[in-house]
Amino acid sequence: MPPIVVFAGRAEQRDAYRKHLTDAAAAAGIGIALHMDPDTVDPGTVDYLVYAANGPVRDFTPYTKLSGILNLWAGIEAVLERNPPADVPLVRMVEDGLTLGMIDYVVGHVLRHHLDVDHFIHSSPIAEWEVDYPPLARDRTVGILGIGALGGACAGRLASHGFRVIGWSRSPKEIPGVECRSGAEALDKTIAEAEILVLLLPLTDATQRILNARRIAQMPLDACLINAARGQLIDHQALLGALNAELLRHATMDVYDVEPLPSDDPYWTHPRVTVTPHIASVTRPETASQSIIAQIARHRRGEPFLHVVDRTRGY
Ligand SMILES: NC(=O)c1ccc[n+]([C@@H]2O[C@H](COP(=O)([O-])OP(=O)(O)OC[C@H]3O[C@@H](n4cnc5c(N)ncnc54)[C@H](OP(=O)(O)O)[C@@H]3O)[C@@H](O)[C@H]2O)c1
Repeated sequence: MPPIVVFAGRAEQRDAYRKHLTDAAAAAGIGIALHMDPDTVDPGTVDYLVYAANGPVRDFTPYTKLSGILNLWAGIEAVLERNPPADVPLVRMVEDGLTLGMIDYVVGHVLRHHLDVDHFIHSSPIAEWEVDYPPLARDRTVGILGIGALGGACAGRLASHGFRVIGWSRSPKEIPGVECRSGAEALDKTIAEAEILVLLLPLTDATQRILNARRIAQMPLDACLINAARGQLIDHQALLGALNAELLRHATMDVYDVEPLPSDDPYWTHPRVTVTPHIASVTRPETASQSIIAQIARHRRGEPFLHVVDRTRGY
């Protein structure tokens, strides 16, 4: 009997995932019994749940036979709030489309701030032949907090472009061309050195408001911030204070405490803030389906899933 795989993402994504999961399973040579609507299947028979926190399944208790919950997102804090069964592996999404999209977003905004592109786009219409060359990338320090699947890929790409890249993570890491650091002391040092600071940490108890008022005050004068992770990593009042005082040049914000960002939020109109609506990257059905099927194939062969969430760490 092929394993029962249920898609529990948003209903409007069913057609795309039906096609790509079917294609990926055929290409991998594994048989699956795929169901696109959880309401049409006895939950007690399901082997793998392809899951999104904004999909139809809010209660895991009827899913008594599960071998794995395969999350469609890299971030898992919203799934953990639903109390998924502790003895069932919860797998984060790691897939090429999501990673490549994040590289594009981060590299694009780093280059924008590095070259101060905004100055030329927004400067006053009075013609002024003001010559001020930007430094070379190798003379610019980019700090990346969180160098996992996404941050690590961005760090590697920025380093190969020539930037001096410092990456910070919980455990020690090695990424070619990147100065990798870990530990609390290294965090403050990295923030103090980064002219462009990129946040790609998961939201956990340990990372909530990690960029607090004290650390924002340690950022170099005229530094830029790019938050492509979660809004709750930042003390927003402190950030706005530093932007208002012109201590920081710019914040590119993709994620917020409340989404959609409320229409009266000061970020919308702040001259030193770019608001993007949580579009830094997205799980792409074609590449994500290949990743999901590869995970199921591993499990069928008796190998452990990759990218399993450690519930005690919260990511
Ligand atoms: N804006 C968007 O469109 C978008 C899209 C996708 C994802 N995201 C966000 O990006 C986040 C990162 O995704 P990912 O796939 O790269 O996650 P990941 O592979 O789990 O990487 C997380 C990184 O953060 C580090 N980290 C976690 N807790 C830490 C702590 N307390 N102190 C120091 N370092 C810590 C990890 O350290 P270790 O390496 O030592 O474990 C790892 O380097 C997601 O959780 C999600 O919130 C945003």
